[in-house]
This record gives sequence, structure tokens and C-alpha cells, in this order.
Amino acid sequence: MSDTSGPMDEQARAKRNAGYYAADLIEDDAIVGLGTGSTVFYMMDRLAGRMREGLRATGIATSFQTERRAYEYRIPLSTLHEYDVIDIAIDGADQIDPAFRLIKGRGAAQTRERCVAEAADAFVVVADKGKLTDALTAPVPVEVLSFAVPVVMNRLAALGGTPVIREGVKKDGPVITDNGNWIIDCRFPRIDEPERLEDAINTLPGVLSCGIFTEFTGKTSIVVGTPEGVEYLSL
Ligand code: A5P
Repeated sequence: MSDTSGPMDEQARAKRNAGYYAADLIEDDAIVGLGTGSTVFYMMDRLAGRMREGLRATGIATSFQTERRAYEYRIPLSTLHEYDVIDIAIDGADQIDPAFRLIKGRGAAQTRERCVAEAADAFVVVADKGKLTDALTAPVPVEVLSFAVPVVMNRLAALGGTPVIREGVKKDGPVITDNGNWIIDCRFPRIDEPERLEDAINTLPGVLSCGIFTEFTGKTSIVVGTPEGVEYLSL
């Protein structure tokens, strides 16, 4: 897990500023979607501090990594079975375009992240400035049932992409997600119409979810961290 204490470089300070600002948006008794990744960890750090001072909140975690951090911080967790409507979901992103369309899934958590964002009344994205881009260009992570991987690879290539199975770092063979599936990272030369590409990928048989998020822009705000502070963006 990444450390949230000790000396910080500029990017870490930017992430911390974004995370802390977002945690301060949480109201008493809120049901909070807890995204995944290093920026969300800062948000949880601040949330845990506020809870020690009396704030009450319940989290819905989007990954095993976030669950473990919530246990450490003693942030109580629940599930979508208990709360199918979430007050606010706070999550990171890999790229953010000017229309608040996102690429997510560096950490292979995009399927649960999408479920939690869907259930949330408000979706707050926390990121350092380096995530802002004029156009989405990053490889698109796609979570796929292992059974369907070869066919999905063919279909992604037919859509103009270059699909690569994500390999483990301290594990031989494919990365296995928290849901027991594989991840394909697919680079596209240009993503001119993210909505269409998202829909084309997400409707392939065997695909759980890709990392393009375009459908939440109406309830999205972005907290952009800089080393000195934050910029709060809403459409
Ligand atoms: C997890 O799968 C991703 O969607 C993360 O939310 C995203 O990669 C942001 O992570 P960082 O805040 O660590 O950059």
C-alpha cells in the first residue's frame, strides 16, 4: 500500500490536497463510495480523521485494496445490498477530458468502481493536474471472463485497438481481478467518440466493464489537486 505519511513530492502533495478536499465534502451520516488508488487513500486518511472527531459515515469499497485500508482506518463498510443508493462516491481517474469523460482501471478495479458510481447521487473525481487531457488517449482496461478472452481480443482488434493481456508483476501469468477475471489493456490510435467506444466494448459478450466512463458526467465534479491547493471543477 502507498504511504500517506512522511516527506512528499509535488505529485503526492497534489493528490493529498485533492483527497483531503473531497473528504471535507462528506456530510454526517453519509453513505460514501470509496474508490481505489493512491489519491483515494488520501481522501480516506482525511475521512478517518474526521470520523475520529465525530463524523459518522459508512463506506462502500470498490476493491480489496480499499477494503483493507478501510479496516486499518476503522471506517465501517457496507455493501450495495444494504445501500443501493449512495450519497457520494469519490474515486480517482487515469485521464479526464474537458467534458469530464474518464479513463479508469489502472488498478483493475473499474467494474466495481462503475457499479458504485452508478449507485451514487454525486460522483467526485480526485486527481492531480497531470490527469487532465484534451483527449482520451490512454490504453483502455477491459475486465473480461477468462473463458471469453480470445474472442474479445479479436473484437477489440476489429474496433481498431491493440489488445494486450495484463500480466502480473509478482505473479506469473495474467492479472486476476478482485472478481476473478482477466484484464486486457487495449490501446486505440484515437478515441474520437468515447461514448460509442465504451458502448461497443461493454456490450461484447464476456466483458464485465471497460475503463471508459462517459455516462456519469451529469453528476460529476472534479477536484484537481496541485502542490499548493485544489481547483474544483463542475460543468
Ligand atoms: C483503479 O482501478 C483506478 O481506476 C484508479 O481509480 C485510478 O487509476 C486512479 O489511481 P491513482 O489515484 O492512484 O492515480
